[in-house]
Amino acid sequence: MSSPVFSFLETDDLSQQEIEGLFAQAKTIKNDFLKHRSFSKTNFSQHSLLLSLLFFEPSTRTRSSFEMAALRMGWQTTFFDGASKEGSSLIKGESFEDTFWTLHAMGPNILVVRCGDELRLTELRKKTQIPLINAGYGTHSHPTQALLDVFTMQESFSDLTNKNILFVGDVRHSRVAHSHFKFLSTLGAHVGVVGPQSFLQGISSSHKSFTQLSEALPWADVVVGLRVQFERHENSNQFSRDEYIKNYQLSLEKAKFLKPSALVFHPGPVNWGLEFDPSVRELPHFKMWQQKQNGVYVRAALLDLVARKNGY
Ligand code: CP
Repeated sequence: MSSPVFSFLETDDLSQQEIEGLFAQAKTIKNDFLKHRSFSKTNFSQHSLLLSLLFFEPSTRTRSSFEMAALRMGWQTTFFDGASKEGSSLIKGESFEDTFWTLHAMGPNILVVRCGDELRLTELRKKTQIPLINAGYGTHSHPTQALLDVFTMQESFSDLTNKNILFVGDVRHSRVAHSHFKFLSTLGAHVGVVGPQSFLQGISSSHKSFTQLSEALPWADVVVGLRVQFERHENSNQFSRDEYIKNYQLSLEKAKFLKPSALVFHPGPVNWGLEFDPSVRELPHFKMWQQKQNGVYVRAALLDLVARKNGY
């Protein structure tokens, strides 16, 4: 009987020790890259896997960072664009699930999947013979974003115990926030949320909830701005852009409430002028480009770990 396949669908698929090892490896990869502008092959367990990316929702950061990580590791990649249906047999009515199994049948070593509720990743993981990596699953989870965010937070605060992490805005529709909520509690951090009531529906009452950004910002060690996800809103008439900007947009004026040591994150893409005023880019607190850069190193370390855990 073949051994079970290890897939990475949520941060709790890895032990705390494995995550510490992954972050240590990502740090080594980063330091080497900053010195030599290349990945050292000695940082990885082997060299010649085929990574297949299967994306049913659009992506810039996650897709590109997985591809760059894999190529710099000496792997090969394929990309299936299931988000713009025109170029594939999705336009002929083929289902997402048949598309998944078609790519699966071709035998890549690892499948990186981004999808909405059309696929049930937790069910597929039980049937697949190929390791899966969750690259963003509907509103449910985006664990590699949570990993790279925590890695970036730890570059400033080595220990997140008792640190206050504030999520601002469209928390309800944010898969990033949902992955963070689980992960941050295991690290001893405190989670806070602030945003319009309709964006906080269904969010656990165990998190600290604020009504005013001016009251929440002084509490926060890390502020995570979240994209307003218009494409997931059932009723777009309920949203007032002016009210949102007045109450929840981070601007230079509101940034005066930040602690001097506070970090400002955003998973991207940003709706500039809505979640953040463009001037936020100039703040010393603003770490979004560091998040993007670290995405490559953390995803490289994850690919290597998933490969090793599957005996490649
Ligand atoms: N943060 C994030 O997942 O961005 P993309 O949708 O561009 O991958």
